[in-house]
Order: sequence, then C-alpha cells, then structure tokens
Amino acid sequence: MAQLAVVGAGYVGLVTAACLSEFGHQVTCIEVDEGKLRRLLAGDLPIHEPGLSDLVSKHTLDARLQFIGEYTGIDDAEFVFIAVPTPSSKDGSADTSYVMQAVETLIPHARPGSVIVIKSTVPIGTADKIAGLASVLAAGIAVVSNPEFLRQGTAVHDFMAPDRVVIGASSPHEAARVAHLYASLEAPIVAVDRRSAELAKYAANALLATRISFMNEISRIASAVHADVDDVARIVGMDRRIGPAFLKAGLGWGGSCFPKDVLALCSVAATNGCRTPILEAVYETNELQREHAAELLLDAVRTIQDPVVAILGLAFKPNTDDVRGSPALSIAQRLLKEGVIVRAHDPFALVNAGRALPEVECRADAYSTLDGADALLLATEWEEYGALDWMLVRETMRGKTILDGRNALNGELLGELGFRYWSFGRATTNGNGLVPKVHANGVAPEVDANGARPGVQEAGV
Ligand code: UDX
Repeated sequence: MAQLAVVGAGYVGLVTAACLSEFGHQVTCIEVDEGKLRRLLAGDLPIHEPGLSDLVSKHTLDARLQFIGEYTGIDDAEFVFIAVPTPSSKDGSADTSYVMQAVETLIPHARPGSVIVIKSTVPIGTADKIAGLASVLAAGIAVVSNPEFLRQGTAVHDFMAPDRVVIGASSPHEAARVAHLYASLEAPIVAVDRRSAELAKYAANALLATRISFMNEISRIASAVHADVDDVARIVGMDRRIGPAFLKAGLGWGGSCFPKDVLALCSVAATNGCRTPILEAVYETNELQREHAAELLLDAVRTIQDPVVAILGLAFKPNTDDVRGSPALSIAQRLLKEGVIVRAHDPFALVNAGRALPEVECRADAYSTLDGADALLLATEWEEYGALDWMLVRETMRGKTILDGRNALNGELLGELGFRYWSFGRATTNGNGLVPKVHANGVAPEVDANGARPGVQEAGV
C-alpha cells in the first residue's frame, strides 16, 4: 500500500482521498481553507455525497485518512494528487492558477522521485507544462494525468466502479506506478500519453452535453410535427451503437462541469487554430432551451397583474444541493427582470440558491410555493414532486399553467385535472401549446379562451 497526498478537499479531492484510503492506501489530504479544514477535522463534511461521510469517518478512525492545512506533511508521499478547481475565466478558458499554485507550493516539500497526479480537469498540455518546470525536473518528479469522471450524487460509486481508469503518462513505467494504486479495481486501465488523457476528459463531457442538446433540438421538431420526443429517444437509444443514456430532453444541462468544460474545450481549440461549430451549437442550444422556457412562462402570465411563477427544483439535477449552472436560476433571473414574482422550492438546494439569487422567494415546502401561483415550472425532477397531490395544487394555484421542464410529470393526468400542461416535445401536444391536437378521428378539440383544451395536454416547445 502506498503513501499518498491529495491537494484539495473539494468535491473531487474529498471523494478521491476517501476512496483511495478505502483501497488501503495511507492518505493525507491538504485543505488550505481554514474554515473547511476545521469542519473536516470536526467530522463535518462540506459536501453532501452518498456514502462519502461513512468512508471519511471509517478511515479517519482507522487513521488511514488525515486532513492537514499545510504542505509540510507530504514529504513521505510517493504520489501527490492535485484536485483543485479550474474555474472558467471570463473568456471561457479554464483558469489553471490554482493548479499551478498548488504545484509550486508542494515542490519544496515533495519527496524526490515522487509522482504528481493531476485529477483536476485541465487544458491540454498542462501536465506537460508542469513536467517541464525546472523545479520538477530537478527533483526527478514524474507528472501523470489521471482525469476523473465522477457524477455528483454517485461520485463514490463512480470512483469505486469506474467504466475505465485513464492514465496519461510519458512512459509505461510511470503509468504502471499509478495503475498499481488502482489494482483492487476490476475496471480497464487505459494508459495513453498525457495530452490524450486530458483531451479525453473534455471530449467525454462534451459528448454527453452534445447528446442532450441534440435531443433537445429533436424535442422542438417533435413538438412541431406532433411526435413524442420520449418515444423517439427510447427508440434511438435502443440502437446498441447509440445507447439510451443522456438522451432526456428538457431544460438542458447545468452543473459545475458541462458548461465550464464545453467552453474550455472551445477555448483550447481556438488557441490551437481549430474551429468548433458543433461545440458552439451544443452550448447555444442549451442556452436556447432556457430562453424558450422563460418566454413560455412570460407568455402564460403576461396579462396578469403582479404575476407569480413558482419554480419547483433549483439544483442543477436531483440528489444534489449544487445550483451552479442551474437552468432554474437563469430562468428565475430572466423572470425577475421582467417584473415577475418568483417563488421557489427545493428539498436540498434552498441555502445555496438563496445565496446565488436572493431575490427569489424561497419556501420550505412545495405546496406553499404553489399556493396562489399563476404558473409552475418544474425545473429539477426530484422524486417528491411526482408524488404531489395535484388536486390540491389545482385548488390552490391561481393559474393553471404547468411547464414541465424535465418531461417528468404525468401530463395526461394533469390535463385531466384541468391544468394547461406544457412539456418539451412530448406527444398529445402541439407546437407552442396553441395548435390544436389532432384526435384519433382526425378532429381537433375546441380551444378555450386561455388557449387550453380541457383534458388535453399541451407542449411547451
Ligand atoms: C458530469 C459528468 O457526467 C461526469 O462524468 C463529470 O465528471 C462531471 O460532469 P454531473 O455534473 O454530476 O457529472 O452531472 P450529470 O449527471 O452528468 O448531468 C449533467 C446535466 O445534464 C444535469 O443538469 C442533468 O439534468 C442534465 N441531463 C442529464 C439532461 O438534461 N438529460 C440527460 O439525459 C442527462
């Protein structure tokens, strides 16, 4: 078993440190933020991630995992993992200053002949650049890229049962040293050069984002031609060459990775003289979904005085309290700008959302959020929203528009209850909720004064 250090106890660092100690390694995790370190030492994790807290307490107890605030404690580490953030700069490029700062600070304390392992998502060429630093060369330190593919909410599982472990190294010997750390896993180890490993990380995230944006574009077409995007996605995904994952249409992707990584890849490409029309369209389509949702909601409440829109779900996806890049927040921002009162609920993300957008009226439960609302946007498909008492909701809401931003609700039932149900390309629907649905007998139902047809779902896109 090896002596390891992990720099950064953020989302990736903490999961990496905890899981590597579960493999049996001796891990020292460095966190320079005093507040965060204090919490960690008190056994209080700064992030919510299933299974993480158990691993951290298990291995702090058996002393395989320790947290420190300084780099002085890493002199016996054979491997030093860098897991610090690489946020978006103003021009979209990834800011590597935290990575470079961590490397410079650790070198004087690092053991000669040790290995720096880059976990942070970095622009292609960063590991080569670090490997070429005079101080790194002088200490005989190797530099290896080992990107992470962790999803929030399943990060511990993703680390312990990965689809592959990618190791980018400049020699088979260096790759083998890092591969050895993962010996207890059954996953394939893919050893490549450093630049390919770095690019593979960006390409994986960009391709997942592309699939979603593509399906969102299809959802617009589905609405226009009276097809059902969910059925289309199911059929397309049954093709084994394509597969079913990441084809769900809706408000689009958010989070701390997809938006940042798509932009960073565009920036790397531009710096190297490559054009990226696909990536740009992927990003733009994602923005369009949000704009379109905001327009639909504004249309629904335009004639109402002091309109109220209720948003259910603020996290960028269910089972996380993270609101970074969340579609809900950008739509809320737009509505607020147009003078709409925005109320919102989220089972986990209210604190973070309140910090990010204090103008939103955050409520502690879904029913009080919906009480008196003119329209509802379902922005995050938390399971509990599917189980709401919709009869009760219908009685307490002032209006009857529901925009299902995740194609997650039972539109048929909501239609029967008298709601005006809009989705993103589901069937029994129409273009923008205004074109009559054609019945089996080929006849369109009557449209009432609100543009709604009793008992009929309408589409939002
Ligand atoms: C992602 C990558 O999956 C992970 O490998 C990488 O390391 C970090 O970025 P994460 O940000 O946790 O993980 O979220 P993910 O589960 O991938 O979802 C990203 C976004 O896409 C969410 O906003 C989600 O709602 C949206 N999404 C996902 C869709 O809109 N449709 C889908 O079919 C799938």
